[in-house]
Amino acid sequence: MGFWSREKTNIDYTKLPRHIGVIMDGNGRWAKKRGLPRSMGHRYGAQTLKKITLFCDELGIEVLTVYAFSTENWKRPKSEVDNLMSLLMEYLSNAEQELGGKNVVIKIIGDLSSFSDEIREQINKTEKLTEKNTGMVLNIALNYGGRDEIVNAVRAIVKSGIPADSVNEDTVDKYLYTAGNPPVDLIIRPSGECRLSNFLLWQCAYSELWFSNVLWPDFDKKHMLRAIADYQNRNRRYGGV
Ligand code: FPP
Repeated sequence: MGFWSREKTNIDYTKLPRHIGVIMDGNGRWAKKRGLPRSMGHRYGAQTLKKITLFCDELGIEVLTVYAFSTENWKRPKSEVDNLMSLLMEYLSNAEQELGGKNVVIKIIGDLSSFSDEIREQINKTEKLTEKNTGMVLNIALNYGGRDEIVNAVRAIVKSGIPADSVNEDTVDKYLYTAGNPPVDLIIRPSGECRLSNFLLWQCAYSELWFSNVLWPDFDKKHMLRAIADYQNRNRRYGGV
């Protein structure tokens, strides 16, 4: 872990959140404020993702799940969707070199059936290249929706023939995209919006939520440390007293 992070905050490194979810919001507004096209906001947002991924891995976070493209984002103008797809291709093809060396395992979660063969091949390639890494897992949520994820899980459970009375919360957990990951302890949403927007709906049951006005491209190590420090100052009771 870097010298910088130890110096500047009072976080307890023995009580880190195991799994953090991030809604990477505010790229468009960041670009607008600078008179730049929205695509530049996404480009800077992708840079921020790289930095924050490396930082979380360095801190010892086990899983980072980021919302990169929602099931609703197809409603954006075609040029913006195309731009996000090409940014994604670029990100994935550079990822092994830029993140893999740091031991990050990259997984894509979401309904991938709507993506082109080219994108699906690149996803497979990146996942294969990083699957033996032993560091943090980076789940990139693409064409992801929390409700869609639950519907998928229900379908798979019904198809599996498990008797209805045997289905419990653990069964559902096992059929979600995040199966095998620790519970989501902390969800971060920058950009001033205070809602979940269909992100990790099942998994957020006991997550702490952290909101900030900072726009995603400006989000840096100090915001992450602040979010973790606030999380550690909360009293998680899980319905108890
Ligand atoms: C929300 O900001 C952001 C998105 C819909 C895309 C998130 C994508 C990235 C951070 C970069 C791409 C990631 C990868 C993995 C390549 P917004 O556009 O809704 O911003 P606004 O609310 O200010 O308009």
